[in-house]
Amino acid sequence: MFVSWCIMEIGIKSNYSKNLANKYLTSGNWCRSTSTASAEKSRDESNYESLIYVIFFLIMLDIKLYNDNCMNVFPSLADGSVHLTLTDIPYDEVNRKSGGLRNLDKSHADIITFPLDNFIDEVVRVTSESIYIFCGSVQVSHIRSRLIEHGLSVRHCIWEKTNPSPMNGQHMWLSSIENCVFARKQGAYFDIRERCKSAVWKCPTEKYKGHPTPKPIELMERLIQASSQPEDTVFDPCMGSGAVGIAAKRCRRKFIGVELDETYFNITKERIETAVRGIGEKKDLMSFM
Ligand SMILES: C[S@@+](CC[C@H](N)C(=O)[O-])C[C@H]1O[C@@H](n2cnc3c(N)ncnc32)[C@H](O)[C@@H]1O
Repeated sequence: MFVSWCIMEIGIKSNYSKNLANKYLTSGNWCRSTSTASAEKSRDESNYESLIYVIFFLIMLDIKLYNDNCMNVFPSLADGSVHLTLTDIPYDEVNRKSGGLRNLDKSHADIITFPLDNFIDEVVRVTSESIYIFCGSVQVSHIRSRLIEHGLSVRHCIWEKTNPSPMNGQHMWLSSIENCVFARKQGAYFDIRERCKSAVWKCPTEKYKGHPTPKPIELMERLIQASSQPEDTVFDPCMGSGAVGIAAKRCRRKFIGVELDETYFNITKERIETAVRGIGEKKDLMSFM
């Protein structure tokens, strides 16, 4: 944090940082069009713009995104190298019979593509503090047992949708809950504001429609704040449209994300970039660095 502040201070005074940020932005994947400061701009305006570039640059440095199978990425992560894994795996429910009632098509985003036990073992290995795995109801007991075998304290949690879809509501109870298995290692951080709170989290569904199974950013923010601290690293090996990544950046965490599907990966990259730019353009810039 102190180093970041120093770089910004130097950058604002010399404009070096703006050139650095411009170079970075236009050479990498995170390219965006940048306007050149016109000669008429006052020094104040120019300094403010520099600050925005530097913050954008620094925040982007704290993000690593992989368009790959997460099982290929795990070996590159050292033991305990992420503080929190928060993920939403494919529920593997698309091909299940629906008893004649209409079912939503989640396409291939819902198809599990890795051996679940190996996935859990790797998640436990790379995570130093807490783990949240959103999953299908059939997967809950398997995931719980495996995490308990690793010696972790485990809790079955529920996301209760406050605005569930009315689909099939005339025939049966609404589909208003989703499952999440939480596990913690000894000494894991847990926010004081969440102490003695229920394991049923009430939250509306996500409005974003670019992915078949988006999770609410609002809920992801709550879980990130509950189980990690600013500057910690959050990891999502199945990031879909990037709800966890966006939430992590809003909460000032570092983020590592993996997505197998190229289309979803590109969507995520763009959404996170937009979110970061949004943070950088806030007036109270210094308060979160
Ligand atoms: C349930 S969705 C995650 C949705 C996400 N939480 C969101 O808010 O958009 C699961 C995602 O995992 C991806 N996926 C499936 N197998 C994967 C693998 N082996 N490695 C990385 N991603 C994978 C799918 O393409 C899908 O986008």
